[in-house]
Amino acid sequence: MLTLASRPRRNRQSAAIRAMHAETWLAPRHFILPLFVHAGQGCEPIASMPGCERLDLDGLEREVQGAIADGIGSVVLFPAVEEALKNATGDECYNPSGIVHVAIRRLKARWPDLVVITDVALDPYNSDGHDGIVASDGRILNDETVAVLCKQAVSHARAGADIVSPSDMMDGRVGAIRAALDAEGFTGVSILAYTVKYASAFYGPFRDALASAPKFGDKKTYQMDPANRREARREVAADVSEGADMIMVKPAGPYLDVIAAVRAATDLPVAAYQVSGEYAMLKAAAQNGWLDEKKAVLESLMGIRRAGADVILTYYARQAARWLAQ
Ligand code: PBG
Repeated sequence: MLTLASRPRRNRQSAAIRAMHAETWLAPRHFILPLFVHAGQGCEPIASMPGCERLDLDGLEREVQGAIADGIGSVVLFPAVEEALKNATGDECYNPSGIVHVAIRRLKARWPDLVVITDVALDPYNSDGHDGIVASDGRILNDETVAVLCKQAVSHARAGADIVSPSDMMDGRVGAIRAALDAEGFTGVSILAYTVKYASAFYGPFRDALASAPKFGDKKTYQMDPANRREARREVAADVSEGADMIMVKPAGPYLDVIAAVRAATDLPVAAYQVSGEYAMLKAAAQNGWLDEKKAVLESLMGIRRAGADVILTYYARQAARWLAQ
């Protein structure tokens, strides 16, 4: 026999002992479910995101009812908008009769305790497919965009949103949105800021879902360079000082080191977004029989939590909640 002072395997020898020592855990309350909604009739499957659909309003209600039954308490809404309603300044985004506004009112009327989160950015409404207003020379205009985002955020609050979530990556938008909300009396509406959002290839399926891909160029002048981690701390400092209530890192899986760095840089709650491309990869491998879907998905979510995320936006929210209940 070896004489060993330390035998780490002793702490792994039974399920009960392993459970005692588990440093990280998953529960449905950690998950936020992203949902796609459109103003048309019927629900349309999304080819690159099997299991996800563009929902009409009745479909949205059915989906939320199921999510609540699974133990999910919060959703974030993304609209697919008809081309005819898009323009260069994305003005449809603050139309109080717009699809997001109608959806918020319906969900909050039926489930007042449901946490309804809205996306604040112009890309679903912008005829150029960018998160900001595009100038004639192709530049994305920062301050002009922030003015529209403020109108969008206030209109969501007026419709009943609990949390607004700017995903646009314009400078100064968190502070401007906070001031605009407060000026209208919405001091209780929170801001979940996409603080550290990378210019990522993993958003491809989401842009298919919303037909919101940029019509030219890419998003690299506003979204972050995947090469950078120090820069994340700079974005965190800005959003904390501007009044963010929660900080997000996006994508999640390829950026676990960034989640850990952000966790260390702030005492605010940290969210991470397991984005459409991460979902599509797991789904495709599972459908081919190459991965055990349940084990791989729960491991991916555990990894994101272990890195430091308090909550996770994931298209697997309902399924994961059901697996955890088994
Ligand atoms: C746009 C937005 C995107 C996502 C959320 N909000 C796409 C983008 O920035 O191009 C991506 C989410 C996903 O891929 O699941 N404001």
